[in-house]
Amino acid sequence: MRFSSFKFASLTPFIIFAFTSATPSLQRSFAGCNVSQAVIPIGQSGLTVAPAGQKPINIALGVGTQNYTCSASGTFASIGAVATLFDASCIFEVIDDLTIKTITPLEIAIDILQTALGKSPTILGHHFFIDNPTGAVGVSPTFDFRSNSERGNPEAFVVTSKSEDVKSPNNPTHNVDWLQLIAIPGQGELASTIYRILTLGGQPPASCAPGCAPITVPYAANYWFFK
Ligand SMILES: *[C@@H]1O[C@H](CO)[C@@H](O)[C@H](O)[C@H]1NC(C)=O
Ligand SMILES: *[C@@H]1O[C@H](CO)[C@@H](O)[C@H](O)[C@H]1NC(C)=O
Repeated sequence: MRFSSFKFASLTPFIIFAFTSATPSLQRSFAGCNVSQAVIPIGQSGLTVAPAGQKPINIALGVGTQNYTCSASGTFASIGAVATLFDASCIFEVIDDLTIKTITPLEIAIDILQTALGKSPTILGHHFFIDNPTGAVGVSPTFDFRSNSERGNPEAFVVTSKSEDVKSPNNPTHNVDWLQLIAIPGQGELASTIYRILTLGGQPPASCAPGCAPITVPYAANYWFFK
């Protein structure tokens, strides 16, 4: 077992709650619960709400790594990320509690959250980065459901650009920033606005030795898709 019995004991009520409240819905397929009325918990974070007319269509738990390379000045610079996006539409209230209020070590977060999602959680799709399709320098956050929950739908992806970036309200040296991303026109129909919130982990160390190999830092986050 990767976690101490003390930590496990403190999490037990949440696990039970997750099972009792979420299990019946887990048999449903893609986007098991209708989240159109869900209110995104951005609070006082500084992120702005999605444009009028856009509603939540999916809520995902992303689990993966943030990747960094060491710059000549000895600080880490982001080179992208990869994450698996699990359907969290039926349990997002539970995930809020688990990620932000209860769990500190990422390994525990992943174990518990995957348990809360069920033994065979629905994978909506994947998050990764591609070269900026507009030709600008850099890489662009991409969300792609075409090989998973939306197989056969050629437009079930979106390439985005970052529109807002605020520090995590909770331990920002450990947890990556909260973001608002907007779809780049003509680069997929999956969503119009995407938020990365309730982040856990993913921040690199404060400094590095120039020339060292790139690093990957585990992270989890909630992704909200609006359309
Ligand atoms: C989701 O719920 C909203 C309002 O409750 C409703 O208008 C909409 O049709 C529902 N969507 C689906 C796919 O059932
Ligand atoms: C990030 O790291 C993961 C794990 O090593 C790797 O699979 C992925 O290709 C990397 N992505 C980028 C953009 O560096």
